[in-house]
Amino acid sequence: MKVEAVRGMTDILPEEALLWQYVEAEIREAVAIYGYREIRTPIVERAELFARGVGEATDIVHKEMYVFPDKKGQMLALRPEATASVVRAYIEHGLHARGGVAKLYYLGPMFRYEKPQKGRKRQFHQYGVEAIGSLDPALDAEVIDLAWYIMERLGLRREGLFLRLNSIGCPEDRPRYREALREYFLPHRERLCPDCQRRLVENPLRILDCKVPTCQEIARDAPRSIDYLCEECRAHFEGLLQYLDALELAYEMDPKLVRGLDYYTRTVFELASRDLGAQDALLGGGRYDGLVEVLGGPPTPGVGFAGGLERLILVLGERDVSHRCYHIIAGPRVYLLPVGKAEVAEALRILATLRRAGIPSDMDYAGRSLRKRLQAAARCGARYALFLGEEELSRSEVKTRDLSTGEEEYVPVGELVDYLKRRI
Ligand code: HAM
Repeated sequence: MKVEAVRGMTDILPEEALLWQYVEAEIREAVAIYGYREIRTPIVERAELFARGVGEATDIVHKEMYVFPDKKGQMLALRPEATASVVRAYIEHGLHARGGVAKLYYLGPMFRYEKPQKGRKRQFHQYGVEAIGSLDPALDAEVIDLAWYIMERLGLRREGLFLRLNSIGCPEDRPRYREALREYFLPHRERLCPDCQRRLVENPLRILDCKVPTCQEIARDAPRSIDYLCEECRAHFEGLLQYLDALELAYEMDPKLVRGLDYYTRTVFELASRDLGAQDALLGGGRYDGLVEVLGGPPTPGVGFAGGLERLILVLGERDVSHRCYHIIAGPRVYLLPVGKAEVAEALRILATLRRAGIPSDMDYAGRSLRKRLQAAARCGARYALFLGEEELSRSEVKTRDLSTGEEEYVPVGELVDYLKRRI
């Protein structure tokens, strides 16, 4: 019986993996230019980290998290996101003691038991940044600028993208806003979906990002969080808008943007693509000024975002970016063709030398005829075929064939590296 991949978890085959490598390399370089350094946290964490960090009542934790006991009965989870993990590591390793802002980035698989569709998987990949240690709205602006910079580097035009922006205030503002929402939704209670009826009691903010059409329609005229901001939160948001203007970064105010994770305070944003349909958020983020404390650290503010690599690849896949993958080794440039068994040992020795000189090279191990092997060499994009027969071997030479012109030459084995390096 065939064993297939788990639903919503996809293989990335070699041709597509090239594009992934290119995108990942661009992201790593972009974030490094902005001063972020990589942090790698485990894929498995205690389930409680996300229950406390992301919020017990969120869909991500309540419905979508992969939770399982280990052999001692400890409840573990496959991480559904990385902000809680990064903050846990920040506290655990005392990174706060180093002072200043900790600028951390990550890239890796996340897991959510969602209904798979275009741009939405159960195992998906996020790249993300977290800047922990400052309340300054200039840092929010810098983080948003970095999101745009990544898009620019990947060649995505600004016109095809837009930034949704909102401020959801601080924990002091929240009860007043929640109450206003509750009052607004209560008369519509019967028409809300069963989930939103529960949300009305637990956390009415979550009704604002419900995807059910009637709930969306009811939510259209709901109170706006920016009308419930305290003095400080208002000043913070105005500061951010000023900085975004200074950076000439456009945004669209979206009063319904509350984001599906409970740790957010003040700034929330999403960068979306006009080409993606329902799952249009290329990345999302915001401030989480209470999270470090919730997870047991000293009160420390933070801001960051994460983006889905699958969605980036989807938008990029519609463009031809193969010419930009040039610095990635896509396949052998040189293909060796030992004519018979007797030449295989020498071919292996030459291959080892070429590879150590950094020349991507290969040969056939499937026992195919010389003609078939030559076809394979052309198909894999090699520039040179190197023939190695009894005669060549006796003279310590190989016959090179330029596969683009058909031109042939005899080259001493000792000069091969220089010869090829000059030509490919
Ligand atoms: P999030 O909005 O849940 O935020 O996810 C961020 C991005 O990950 C989304 O905008 C989307 O591009 C991608 N994404 C989410 N779920 C899926 C899925 N099932 N399949 C494919 N892509 C997906 C967070 O995760 C926060 N930790 C972001 C953050 C960092 N906030 C502050 N710092």
